[in-house]
Amino acid sequence: MTETNSAHRSFDLKQYSFPTEQIPRLSITDPEAERRISKALPVLLTDTNLVTSALHWDLEYLSEHIGDGDFVVHISKNKNFQYFDNKKSVNVKDFQKPTEKEDMKFSEFVEKLKKAKPGEDRLYLQQILHDTVGKKVINDFLGFNWHWVTRQQKDNHFGEMTSNLLLIGMEGNVTPAHYDEQENFFAQVRGYKRFILFPPSQFSSMYPYPIYHPCDRQSQVDFDNPDFTRFPKFKEACGMETIVGPGDVLYIPMYWWHHVQSIPSQGYTISVTFWYKAGQAEKIEYPLKPQQKVAMMRNIEKMINQALNNSAEMPDFMSNMTLGRYT
Ligand code: FUM
Ligand code: FE
Repeated sequence: MTETNSAHRSFDLKQYSFPTEQIPRLSITDPEAERRISKALPVLLTDTNLVTSALHWDLEYLSEHIGDGDFVVHISKNKNFQYFDNKKSVNVKDFQKPTEKEDMKFSEFVEKLKKAKPGEDRLYLQQILHDTVGKKVINDFLGFNWHWVTRQQKDNHFGEMTSNLLLIGMEGNVTPAHYDEQENFFAQVRGYKRFILFPPSQFSSMYPYPIYHPCDRQSQVDFDNPDFTRFPKFKEACGMETIVGPGDVLYIPMYWWHHVQSIPSQGYTISVTFWYKAGQAEKIEYPLKPQQKVAMMRNIEKMINQALNNSAEMPDFMSNMTLGRYT
């Protein structure tokens, strides 16, 4: 364990097998902040006011005002909430779902959260915000700093906004390392989360599952107990980390790996993501950037998988193509 300082306070944090450096923590008035976003580098922004209008959110307020729609709640037997695409389960024989999912009313979620005991199932609400929410929450939503975030979208040539995901997690919950195919301004509303990021250039150290696997885009490496025999290049991994607290916004560039933990402090955490599609590259410049190569690898892998029309043939095909020739 090691003491890591955030601007807010210090926490006892686990020391992993890899080194990390701190993600810069900057004001939006600092030109370095804008430079980092424009270069697709992560940065923690302290004063965007992106979700200031939601900083009063807690379970009591949301119970009263979030409405009686259905909410997606993920349930895990351990602390990890690994994302998977159930549509791809047919591609993997005997695939074991890492988590279960249940639709429930907000009140039911709160009840379960309050009753949860250590060692029992953990819960993580992950619901796209939509118009079934009550008037007060709509007003809070309209009060987000749309001016700032839309200017970022334009200045940095992001595509359209896709969604805002509301995340309410129990302390200790972990979203294991993965990358997304979208730009993300991650806004923290309540409690603290530790983010560890790795650049797209470390693709080979992170060992993502094959594209046809339900855990596509997720790292196969267990950070708590890395298997260096299967994943030797994980020894070369080198991360960047930060702690986000209420009001902070972390820019997570597309294709950057991120591992997220809700730090034990206030029982639960609340966050809202602002996801944007990739922008259209204006003109291709060589050499290609690591994130462009990742996109290319994904497309080629998808094409081969489609052409074979049987994911079970992928491992042999891919090894025959490269082993002893490119390795
Ligand atoms: O658990 C989390 O807050 C995950 C966020 C993300 O993957 O963007
Ligand atoms: Fe993510």
